[in-house]
Amino acid sequence: MSEATQTASASTLIRNPYEPQLATIAKIIDETWDTKTFRAVFNDEDLRENFTYEPGQFQIVSVFGVGEATFCLTSTPTRKGYVEFSVKRVGSVTTALHEMYEGQIVGIRAPLGNHFPYEQWKGKNLVFAGGGIGMAPMRSLLNFCLDNRSDYGDIIVIYGARTPGDLCYKYEFDEWRQKANLYLTVDQADNDWKDHVGHVPGYLKELAPSAENAIAITCGPPIMIKYILPEFANLGFSDEQIYTTLEMKMKCGIGKCGRCNIGSKLVCVDGPVFSNAQLKELPPEF
Ligand SMILES: Cc1cc2nc3c(=O)[nH]c(=O)nc-3n(C[C@H](O)[C@H](O)[C@H](O)COP(=O)(O)OP(=O)(O)OC[C@H]3O[C@@H](n4cnc5c(N)ncnc54)[C@H](O)[C@@H]3O)c2cc1C
Ligand code: FES
Repeated sequence: MSEATQTASASTLIRNPYEPQLATIAKIIDETWDTKTFRAVFNDEDLRENFTYEPGQFQIVSVFGVGEATFCLTSTPTRKGYVEFSVKRVGSVTTALHEMYEGQIVGIRAPLGNHFPYEQWKGKNLVFAGGGIGMAPMRSLLNFCLDNRSDYGDIIVIYGARTPGDLCYKYEFDEWRQKANLYLTVDQADNDWKDHVGHVPGYLKELAPSAENAIAITCGPPIMIKYILPEFANLGFSDEQIYTTLEMKMKCGIGKCGRCNIGSKLVCVDGPVFSNAQLKELPPEF
């Protein structure tokens, strides 16, 4: 089945995009002191078996009686039967999620938004540079590419956080090391830390991956993105070679309410994935 056909069949499974689909929390992973990853399994058998999505897409999760919040799909569609989302505790819905336990039910509206154009990147080298919870959307793409390893050239992953305890997905680092070049960095090391110390943009400059036949993908706190984009540019990456995802506040998630607009674009349907060339055409509202 072609990728386009797979996406179409996923969308047709969801008849009403406003209606959350019931899903059971099957697994909760404590990533850091303020972030947990939730694995959810759709209650509907057809959805559970046939639901699919693309790396970079997002979901809107309902905690019944509390509200909804937007999270990227951090799992990869190559690993079937569940969806995952990583949640940093910041407010009412994220706190309610952190208080949930395995076996409880949430509502999920998905898949929403566009996706990383990985089909166009076959044969290219990929450079991932991310920080903190910004690894969540990149993890979906990274694991997708690792599951289709022969489609891509070198894969470099530069991942940083404030401290070693702030790094997410540590349980996947061995797999990432086996199939890609993983470079970890923290702002403040502890006694056990053996990797790099410093910010992601500085480490990127030091590692200096080649821009030739390469694509850069970067997600993380806005301050990190601000400093990382010039570093990629200095390395010779054009705006068309650099991709990121935006996290504008959303409501409907399907292009109807106008809550997430930047100029003429709606982040929930035109994004959340944008190339730097596309971002430069938008008003600087993000
Ligand atoms: C496309 C997209 C993907 C996202 N992916 C993730 C993800 O993978 N993991 C994750 O933890 N979060 C993600 N977010 C952010 C997440 O949606 C918000 O943190 C969440 O909605 C907060 O809900 P709340 O009810 O707990 O907080 P609220 O009580 O609504 O707000 C608490 C605080 O968080 C701020 N806040 C709320 N939403 C956002 C937002 N979208 N951006 C910045 N600040 C916000 C509020 O201004 C307030 O200061 C994503 C957002 C978008 C739009
Ligand atoms: S969230 Fe409603 S239009 Fe984007």
